[in-house]
Amino acid sequence: MNLFRRKDIAEVAPPSALKKVLGPVDLTLMGIGCIVGAGIFVLTGVAAATSAGPAIVLSFVLAGVACAFTALSYAELASTIGGAGSAYSYGYATLGEIVAWIIGWDLILEYGVGVCTVAVGWSGYVTNALSAVGVRVPAVLTAGPFQALPHHAGHGDFNVLAAGIILVLALLLALGAKLSARFNAIMVVVKLLALGLFIVLALPHFNVHLWHPFIPPRTNHHFGWQGVVEGASLIFFAYIGFDAVSTAVEETKNPQRDAPIGILASLFICTLLYMVVAALLTGIVPYQTLNVPSPVASALIHIGYHWGAAAVAVGAIAGLTTVMLVLYFGLSRILMSMGRDGLLPPVFGRVHPKTGTPVPVILGLGVLMAIVAGFTPITDLAKLVNMGTLAAFTVVCLGVIWLRANRPELERPFRTPFSPLFPALGALICFYLMLNLPALTWHAFFIWLAVGLGVYAGYSVRHSHLAAGAPVRSGSS
Ligand code: ALA
Repeated sequence: MNLFRRKDIAEVAPPSALKKVLGPVDLTLMGIGCIVGAGIFVLTGVAAATSAGPAIVLSFVLAGVACAFTALSYAELASTIGGAGSAYSYGYATLGEIVAWIIGWDLILEYGVGVCTVAVGWSGYVTNALSAVGVRVPAVLTAGPFQALPHHAGHGDFNVLAAGIILVLALLLALGAKLSARFNAIMVVVKLLALGLFIVLALPHFNVHLWHPFIPPRTNHHFGWQGVVEGASLIFFAYIGFDAVSTAVEETKNPQRDAPIGILASLFICTLLYMVVAALLTGIVPYQTLNVPSPVASALIHIGYHWGAAAVAVGAIAGLTTVMLVLYFGLSRILMSMGRDGLLPPVFGRVHPKTGTPVPVILGLGVLMAIVAGFTPITDLAKLVNMGTLAAFTVVCLGVIWLRANRPELERPFRTPFSPLFPALGALICFYLMLNLPALTWHAFFIWLAVGLGVYAGYSVRHSHLAAGAPVRSGSS
């Protein structure tokens, strides 16, 4: 049995019937649409307050560097392999089936728990917006049982808003909703305006004294350089999404040129934006006050801009909704691909004849994710997502090195510069960030992987379509 059997690259990128309409600007906007979300609007505050202090700016640099190296690797694979790629299909064509399975299983974690994370962030902003217009949601219904409520009011029961938005999105997606490029572009503008407004209002209030000490001294749990790295492992979440650009390659006019531009440009713009927002956030209010559900809006209230806070909250709510929609859509696509490859039961690849969407998968996932989002605090969710994503990114970087060594003849319209140094650095930094996630996250991740390998051994290895007859190429070469 060959667990490292690989799909032929031509199978990953079959001739496509999709219309080629997207250019580099569309792809960049698509990237920003997926990237800017709960990471900057919520987790920056949590990470500044609990891990890094004002040095959260450095955490953004560190996580950004890891993503930049990975983005170059993604860009090379997207341009070489093509197809509606995800790390899963790249892995299938390069490192073999079992590695692809592990990446796919990681991506399910990334996208699935990612939706839950953003839903909890969404719930925080909606709760505050509702209370601003006089509608009070009982606090115990805005947080899960493991999350402390503000003002020492005990713990929550179930985050009804987070669960509710996931169920609404499940229905929309099952009915065939898809974020059109135009709607996405509008949402990107709304999000960027919200952050732009924050920057304009916050800039005159920047108080350099709040940056002393820039890296708060190490205490028992956090701060110091260790806190900066732990902060990077948490706010890494803010960068997730640039990889989604590679899923639109089939619809791109000139994928070899445009996909790398879209991936790298969206990442670059977001990194700059994040550093400015994080610097201002910790420069207008004491970082200790930022561990709240809607820190960007709360900071504006703190400096007297109630209307500004309301406007930012509206932008955040709209922005977070689109991130969830894209992640949820991506999740259903990955499960569908794995179902079509025979690695998951056929029901995962089953598409409803009327809506053209994988209804059973979408609805089943919706219920599961609503339960998870209702019970779990946002930081625990984000750390788990980051673990899964960092693992997948590490494999993507290694995939570039492997492919260069084993398939040197392939045409590579985009080449990662300084390979294998850059991909190796990408893999190393991603792994380093993984090491800085808490033991509990590692345990949860290992359980997830063990379940995944159990499913692979119990089902996928025997039902794989590749094993059943498609040409199998030796993985040992
Ligand atoms: N990067 C996305 C966010 O921050 C997932 O919400």
